[in-house]
Amino acid sequence: MKRRILITSALPYANGSIHLGHLVEYTQTDIWARYQRLRGHDCVYVCADDAHGTPIMLRAQSEGITPEELITRMHGDHLRDFTSFGIRFDLYHSTHSPENFEISQSIYRALRVADYINVREIEQAYDPVAGIFLPDRFIRGTCPRCGAADQYGDSCEVCGATYSPTDLINPVSAVSGAVPERRNSEHYFFQLGDFSDFLRRWIHSGTLQEEVAHKLDEWFSIGLADWDISRDAPYFGIPIPDAPGKFFYVWLDALPGYMAATKHWCAAHDRNFADYWGPESTTEIYHFIGKDIIYFHGLFWPAMLKGSGHRLPTGIFAHGHLTVNGAKMSKSRGTSITAEQYLQHLNPEFLRYYIATKLNSHVEDIDLNLEDFLLKGNGDLVGKVVNLASRAAGFIHRSFAGRLAASLGNDQAFYDGLLQTQEAIGEAYAGREYGKAMRDIMVLADQVNAYVDQNAPWVLAKDSAQREALHRVVTVTLNGFRVLITLLSPVLPELSRKSLEFLQCELDWGGLTKPLLDHQIQPYTHLLQRMEKTQVDALIQTPAESPATAQATSTATPTAAENKEENPFISIDDFSRVDLRIARIIAADSVEGADKLLHLTLDIGEGTRSVFAGIKSAYDPASLVGKLTVMVANLAPRKMRFGLSEGMVLAASGPEGGPFLLSPDSGARPGMRVK
Ligand code: MSP
Ligand code: ZN
Repeated sequence: MKRRILITSALPYANGSIHLGHLVEYTQTDIWARYQRLRGHDCVYVCADDAHGTPIMLRAQSEGITPEELITRMHGDHLRDFTSFGIRFDLYHSTHSPENFEISQSIYRALRVADYINVREIEQAYDPVAGIFLPDRFIRGTCPRCGAADQYGDSCEVCGATYSPTDLINPVSAVSGAVPERRNSEHYFFQLGDFSDFLRRWIHSGTLQEEVAHKLDEWFSIGLADWDISRDAPYFGIPIPDAPGKFFYVWLDALPGYMAATKHWCAAHDRNFADYWGPESTTEIYHFIGKDIIYFHGLFWPAMLKGSGHRLPTGIFAHGHLTVNGAKMSKSRGTSITAEQYLQHLNPEFLRYYIATKLNSHVEDIDLNLEDFLLKGNGDLVGKVVNLASRAAGFIHRSFAGRLAASLGNDQAFYDGLLQTQEAIGEAYAGREYGKAMRDIMVLADQVNAYVDQNAPWVLAKDSAQREALHRVVTVTLNGFRVLITLLSPVLPELSRKSLEFLQCELDWGGLTKPLLDHQIQPYTHLLQRMEKTQVDALIQTPAESPATAQATSTATPTAAENKEENPFISIDDFSRVDLRIARIIAADSVEGADKLLHLTLDIGEGTRSVFAGIKSAYDPASLVGKLTVMVANLAPRKMRFGLSEGMVLAASGPEGGPFLLSPDSGARPGMRVK
């Protein structure tokens, strides 16, 4: 039965380059889409740039261009990268499109009519220098829960707390460095809580992976909060109807971006949009996403769809994140590799294959181990697959003018045996168990190679009496190659295109049951060049994006944690985030059970701090009382065996002695900042 299927990948932010992490997702989706097309389904794969939001606006500003110019350029760059990696979208659209304005606004209107929207005034961080309200990600400060310094305004990477940016301790604007003010403004809220009962059931309806549903369950115990969906001008986005100066928060129009892309594609292909997203639609709709955006797709999106009278997706497939050589991608280690950088050195299909070998249907992180990558790509694809063609081609052209034998003779059974796992491999593709599919295909490749070794065509070729046997063996080998290439084609579109051109046949999953017989093939031309170790090494040595761009990216995306710089220098901003204060020691006590520690009580002007300091070896506690020193006031509080330590005093020490407590010149007062 021919199924109608709509497939999407998450819409990449328009303000950053496509990197190998992204490519996990687009490769995963593309393989799936290609597999479904190969099985003859009516399948459309759409995506788009996620073009709105403050980061785009600020980046355009800093480049001295309009946001429209910026997103047009990024759209071109993204599409170029995707195309180079063989990602074949039926449409790569943009959320900054007329269809998306219309759809996002109409979803909003429907939600408002159904009374799922409320408006209320909230207090928010405002950057008085930049003249904008600050998105959570653009405020940094100390986590209100665990005290970790330098955390984003919405969540703490150390303890995992999520909070509002106004809860941050010592916040600063990442845009201008100014201390944010608090200002009131009216915001529009989507009442997610109204959908609690529906969502609780829906997330267990089979649409989500079990582990994802499980994860989302946690949110219900806390209770679903209203979702703030408005942002104040200036904002690059879609205006909220009947709300002058208000725009949709970027995620509110990003999700409908899936529909907008579908709509544009339908118009261009004479299809009916309602067959896809209409309430009666029977189309299967699948969203491929990364684990970091599950919340949006597993809660907000179904609630928005439900609340506005739309159908719901059939499946949401989340994958894990890519690490390189076992660690998060990092610019300073040179492992944050952009698509463009990769392409300067290596054939994209090696990456597609490697990603495929690593993927399964679960939300597990996958590691790009470069040594393994080199071995697998060369060993499997060149060594086990392409070599079959190059070896057999020599014989078929030299001895048989490029024509395959008319029958497989006694080896028909061997050939049929190769097809026995075909359906299982198909099911592995359909079930996103690509790693299993690749292993099963390599088992077949081993069988064909063993067949060649046993039948030794190079020996047969020396004996004219064995001419027929030779013809049969190379015909079986080339048909075996065709099986492998067909099975691998969702993963390796370019290799399969070239290979099928060489074999002079069409890509045909079901057609494998009929081997190519008495069939003319083309002269062999190079199908796939081995990777050299130097090329793989060069991936890491390529200097990453300039720090300026890196920063623009890192402040912008929810996955920004990966982009955090780890270079040996800290910026003046980093330094100014260290809150150094003059402190007066108002009490110093020994700590029972700790012979190196003193318990200091410090007056820092605006209250006291309790600090445990390892200075007992050098100081008599009584002599310290009344002294001024310098402390780090925004260090994450640390629970020690003896109590909570709320900072650190500065002291010098070296092999010559110490510790020597630092103290300011006379005139300094407790609470003064040290800069
Ligand atoms: N714009 C949002 C998605 C909106 S969908 C309506 C977004 N963009 S993104 O550019 O940050 O990420 C796009 C996709 O790439 C996400 O699904 C994300 O999980 C995925 N990946 C980004 N970095 C990744 C890795 N390092 N590894 C695997 N996937 C990663 O989120
Ligand atoms: Zn924290």
